[in-house]
Amino acid sequence: MSPPDFTAVATSVAHELATPLSVVSLSLQLLRSELAARDADAEEIELVDAALRNLQLVELQAGRLRDLDPDREPRLQVQQTDVTELIRLLVADLDRTLLIEHVTRTVVPDELVAEVDPARIRQLLYTLLSNAAKYCPAGRAVVVTARQDGPDLVLAVRDEGHSVAPEGAERLFERYERRRDDVPGAGLGLYLARRYAQGHGGELRLLPADDDVGNTFEARLPSPNVGARSA
Ligand SMILES: Nc1ncnc2c1ncn2[C@@H]1O[C@H](COP(=O)(O)OP(=O)(O)OP(=O)(O)O)[C@@H](O)[C@H]1O
Ligand SMILES: [Mg+2]
Repeated sequence: MSPPDFTAVATSVAHELATPLSVVSLSLQLLRSELAARDADAEEIELVDAALRNLQLVELQAGRLRDLDPDREPRLQVQQTDVTELIRLLVADLDRTLLIEHVTRTVVPDELVAEVDPARIRQLLYTLLSNAAKYCPAGRAVVVTARQDGPDLVLAVRDEGHSVAPEGAERLFERYERRRDDVPGAGLGLYLARRYAQGHGGELRLLPADDDVGNTFEARLPSPNVGARSA
């Protein structure tokens, strides 16, 4: 029997990780609500919160592995999603982990809902934010925006790092394509993030930069019922 290829191993690992990760996550959430109900010390609650934040990073990595197979389109689970809350929670977690050395800002309406796959949208934003954390120098700003534009949900992450050269920038969305060897990575983040955008019938692009400062990656996703929450 020939050895399984890398993609088969990755997707099988992701599959095996899914159940234990969700059990750990549910247990920690339960523990957290019990501590809160018992009026536990803030430090005790913070310990559980830190575990949950870091667990989310592991879940996001496992999610990447699950969708790697280029021959199998990710099966999206589209549902009405509170985009504002999704972004606030994700950024609050990453602010204290991956983005701890950056200055993050979110520009999102108080209410923005859309029909999307929340896990894949979290994954897409995580990819863009982890890239900003890796490739944009510490101390600089990283801005996440979300807005409705007609029938589309538009999500963007802008950083203040060195702009990616426009020549061949499209290639960065291909599997294993990288420009920097001094920072660890597999060259899969943008490939997967674009697949998620395209799975929603949309697109993910690097917007042209005005000068050499900063990169803006923008996802435009057609989404039924995008807008403020209906009463
Ligand atoms: N915000 C950014 N600023 C500068 N360069 C970037 C940025 N985002 C992506 N890049 C470039 O695009 C390449 C591909 O990014 P991608 O996220 O696909 O892979 P990666 O970050 O190298 O690895 P990983 O699979 O861990 O995400 C990066 O290696 C980097 O050269
Ligand atoms: Mg990346």
